Amino acid sequence: MFPNVFSEGSVSSRVVLPLYVLLSVSRAALATNPFVQYAIDFPDPNYVAADNYAPNLAGAEATIIAWAEEMASHGPWSVTNKPVVAPSGDKHDYMSWAPYEWADCSNVKNTTALSLSDESKECNFVFRDGQVNPERSIIQDFQSFFNLSDAVLYNSIAAVLQNKSSSVYSQNVAKFVNTWFLDADTAMNPNLNYAQMNRGPGSGQNGSYTGILDLRGFAKIASGILILRNSKNTDWTSDLDNQLIAWCNKYMDWLLTSPSGTQASHATNNHGTIFVSQFAALKLITKDTAGAVNWTQNYFSGLFQHQVNSTGDQPEEASRTHPYHYRNFDIAGMITNARILKYADPTSKPWNTTASGATIQTTVDFLMTVNPATTGEQDVTAEIYPNIAAVASVYGDPDGKYVKFLNATGFPYADDATFLWDQPLAGGTLATTNSTSTGGSGGGSGGGKSGGRSTGVGAVERICFIAAVLMALGFELLL
Ligand SMILES: *[C@@H]1O[C@H](CO)[C@@H](O)[C@H](O)[C@H]1NC(C)=O
Ligand SMILES: *[C@@H]1O[C@H](CO)[C@@H](O)[C@H](O)[C@H]1NC(C)=O
Ligand SMILES: *[C@@H]1O[C@H](CO)[C@@H](O)[C@H](O)[C@H]1NC(C)=O
Ligand SMILES: *[C@@H]1O[C@H](CO)[C@@H](O)[C@H](O)[C@H]1NC(C)=O
Ligand SMILES: *[C@@H]1O[C@H](CO)[C@@H](O)[C@H](O)[C@H]1NC(C)=O
Ligand SMILES: *[C@@H]1O[C@H](CO)[C@@H](O)[C@H](O)[C@H]1NC(C)=O
Ligand SMILES: *[C@@H]1O[C@H](CO)[C@@H](O)[C@H](O)[C@H]1NC(C)=O
Ligand SMILES: *[C@@H]1O[C@H](CO)[C@@H](O)[C@H](O)[C@H]1NC(C)=O
Ligand SMILES: *[C@@H]1O[C@H](CO)[C@@H](O)[C@H](O)[C@H]1NC(C)=O
Repeated sequence: MFPNVFSEGSVSSRVVLPLYVLLSVSRAALATNPFVQYAIDFPDPNYVAADNYAPNLAGAEATIIAWAEEMASHGPWSVTNKPVVAPSGDKHDYMSWAPYEWADCSNVKNTTALSLSDESKECNFVFRDGQVNPERSIIQDFQSFFNLSDAVLYNSIAAVLQNKSSSVYSQNVAKFVNTWFLDADTAMNPNLNYAQMNRGPGSGQNGSYTGILDLRGFAKIASGILILRNSKNTDWTSDLDNQLIAWCNKYMDWLLTSPSGTQASHATNNHGTIFVSQFAALKLITKDTAGAVNWTQNYFSGLFQHQVNSTGDQPEEASRTHPYHYRNFDIAGMITNARILKYADPTSKPWNTTASGATIQTTVDFLMTVNPATTGEQDVTAEIYPNIAAVASVYGDPDGKYVKFLNATGFPYADDATFLWDQPLAGGTLATTNSTSTGGSGGGSGGGKSGGRSTGVGAVERICFIAAVLMALGFELLL
């Protein structure tokens, strides 16, 4: 798995600083949750496009608009912007470097004038598990695609919230998709030949199968594009639609025929789960609904059976160095696969599919009993929140344990973007943020949902609390 958000480097400089900037720039922004980059999801495009939301979702809607605008402020993105070109010499090739590979240049005689490009070709590279080489962030293609994915999703939902067939939000989506995928000057070639590439001489100039995860954001992009299609948005033209479909068809061919793509498709852990999420999402973009059903159905009858045991634990993830994180990451992929399957075939029953008697719900219930501190992962506690919310929305919460858990975190969940589609989730009983702080965590208490939310001391404390959550999600993660 892979860096989620604000990934590499010092957390304090990359995350906290922007939040204080936010504080000084706009008090109005305090009414919404600061941006969180979730790993993967697929909000049901029919549900979103129908625009028939419960009345307690004003906070979530405001957050979505804010996140749509924040993401749009960074775009458009293009692989042609990076300061380093892939070994192919083609600036249209996507590239990212394997995060834990460090140069050992003792084999190079004169290192005085070694450029980054020389270093990448000539030095040997050694693997230091879990230690991210800061050089990785020189190439922002992976972070650009994460942001593009969130920009497409949140701007598509924001477009629906405008009740208009054309708006600045859907124009953003059209512009960002065109720049990344389609415009001849800036388009990405439909391959990942250089994703999570190893460096050094010999075979060191190729991408690796782990790099397929770099484009997991396709699940979000598919949701966004289908939202625009299903809501008959006029900024998403048939010309753009057809061109994107053509691009995705070429990229799927690459995924099925390249060494990296085929290896990722055969992975038995989270890489395999999320390969299916990405591939089925591409099938939906290309209007091959039966293909999306085939891949996700096969996931539940195949890989899922291998991944989950009767306890609801996931042995392949439990054995990793960051097991709390990896279990959550894989569960997010399972949830995405279930959502895609349910969308593509409403008669399907992915949520009821069992492996040794366990369902997706069992995996979350099990993980709720695990203390992340026992593996030194208290920093990634927040990764379970969206998984709990998704499970509560699907299976219900008759004894209130999911809402109780989310409430107890202090995280203002009812103002989270995901709360819009993780419905019903015991709606109004989740704490919102229009109240003053109860101290400690800075979380809100009490309260009705709409309007009148505090921008006072409680909100400032909330920002600090959420800064901690963002740091948690930005924690650098192993492959
Ligand atoms: C190493 O390369 C630099 C820059 O080209 C040059 O100035 C220096 O003389 C070289 N040193 C040796 C020992 O060759
Ligand atoms: C991605 O978004 C985050 C959060 O707004 C921002 O800090 C970062 O600079 C963005 N990166 C790119 C490449 O857009
Ligand atoms: C869109 O319609 C809904 C439902 O009628 C309404 O509550 C909302 O205020 C409208 N939004 C805009 C931006 O006009
Ligand atoms: C990179 O991978 C491709 C595809 O497998 C292969 O043809 C090529 O020889 C590899 N290049 C190197 C330098 O290993
Ligand atoms: C169905 O999905 C499997 C992977 O689960 C794939 O190997 C197979 O080719 C797909 N079938 C069709 C008709 O696309
Ligand atoms: C389930 O997997 C976990 C992690 O590998 C293991 O500790 C546990 O014993 C397994 N439970 C069963 C019933 O196999
Ligand atoms: C599981 O199946 C039962 C019986 O068909 C059904 O009532 C229930 O709604 C299903 N649960 C989910 C989460 O789909
Ligand atoms: C929260 O907002 C609602 C609706 O405006 C209001 O009725 C309620 O009093 C507020 N709660 C607090 C604690 O400010
Ligand atoms: C969640 O917290 C709010 C505010 O403290 C409270 O009104 C609500 O009853 C709580 N819900 C549950 C299920 O604990």
